[in-house]
Amino acid sequence: MSSLRPGNPACYNPLTMSQPRKKIIFSAMQATGRLHLGNLEGALRNWVRLQDEYELYAGIVDLHSLTTTFDDTSEVLENVREAAIDYLAAGLDPDKTAIVIQSWVPAHAELHTLLSMITPVGWLERVPTYKEKREQLHIANPSYGLLGYPVLMAADILVYRADVVPVGRDQVPHLELTREIARRFNHLYGNILPEPQSLLTEFALLPGLDGRKMSKSYDNCIYLSDSPDDVRRKVPDMFTDPTKLRKNDPGHPDQCPVYAYHLAYSPDTAPEVKADCEAGKLGCVDHKRQLADILIEAMTSYWERRAAIAADPDRLDAVLQDGARRARDKTAETMDLVWKAMKLR
Ligand code: TRP
Repeated sequence: MSSLRPGNPACYNPLTMSQPRKKIIFSAMQATGRLHLGNLEGALRNWVRLQDEYELYAGIVDLHSLTTTFDDTSEVLENVREAAIDYLAAGLDPDKTAIVIQSWVPAHAELHTLLSMITPVGWLERVPTYKEKREQLHIANPSYGLLGYPVLMAADILVYRADVVPVGRDQVPHLELTREIARRFNHLYGNILPEPQSLLTEFALLPGLDGRKMSKSYDNCIYLSDSPDDVRRKVPDMFTDPTKLRKNDPGHPDQCPVYAYHLAYSPDTAPEVKADCEAGKLGCVDHKRQLADILIEAMTSYWERRAAIAADPDRLDAVLQDGARRARDKTAETMDLVWKAMKLR
């Protein structure tokens, strides 16, 4: 597990190594709750594919969770640990990838403070997610931290001087703001912070069980920590094509979340199911029964890995300590440049 193995390019100092350095990726998820299938299919699997080619820092951004979960923080740490288990179960390899808990690496908060000085409030008030969150979560008196969410995110990325940030479409405005903040910093203090490129994750996101975006706040998720029984309980409640009222009505699979899951997890059997549904030969209840079996089969090896990782908390601790140490080393290089550029050192 040691990251100091010679031959692991992720540990070479870019200033001294002779071979061309690997490009750096920082990406992250909040741990406001448990991670769900959408997180796995939409993000984690993509990171796993990228970890060989890039020096990858996979963040769990617990400070960001506090922007909406400050009144009861008792579950944040547990959610963070569960997220780390999911990162490993999905296949992130701690020899290659640093799993980084944001609050364990103080440079995130330090750079955030400095960037907050140069970020106009008007830029932040225009960020679409700010308005969305206030409305969705009925926040009458938004905090300074909620408004500054994208500044903290910019700090997360820029403190690694990341080249690339894989994100979903909803995060593109945040990335654009990150680039603007970097440009402003560089204009004021000198060219220190490269503008990161976003790498759009084009995976057609799995819908939630009700057909909306899968999200904890809609309570429409299959969680990665769910059991087979949870899946059997949730799938029968899934929404289907609303025009298919009776078993023999012809359905429209393209508008049906059950079919979307079927296509994602059993593409070979999807065409037949599609034809039967459209012909009125397959009822929703039967289709859901099939889907529950398919999902459980698809998740079984994931669940087994998850259980094995959860059963070894000492190893998990070691992985998280090691990730934080590598992140502290990396971000210290940036902060040294930043403090000097700002003439504070
Ligand atoms: N805002 C991201 C989300 O909700 C989470 C995040 C925080 C992030 N910091 C980041 C993503 C840095 C990529 C890079 O999904």
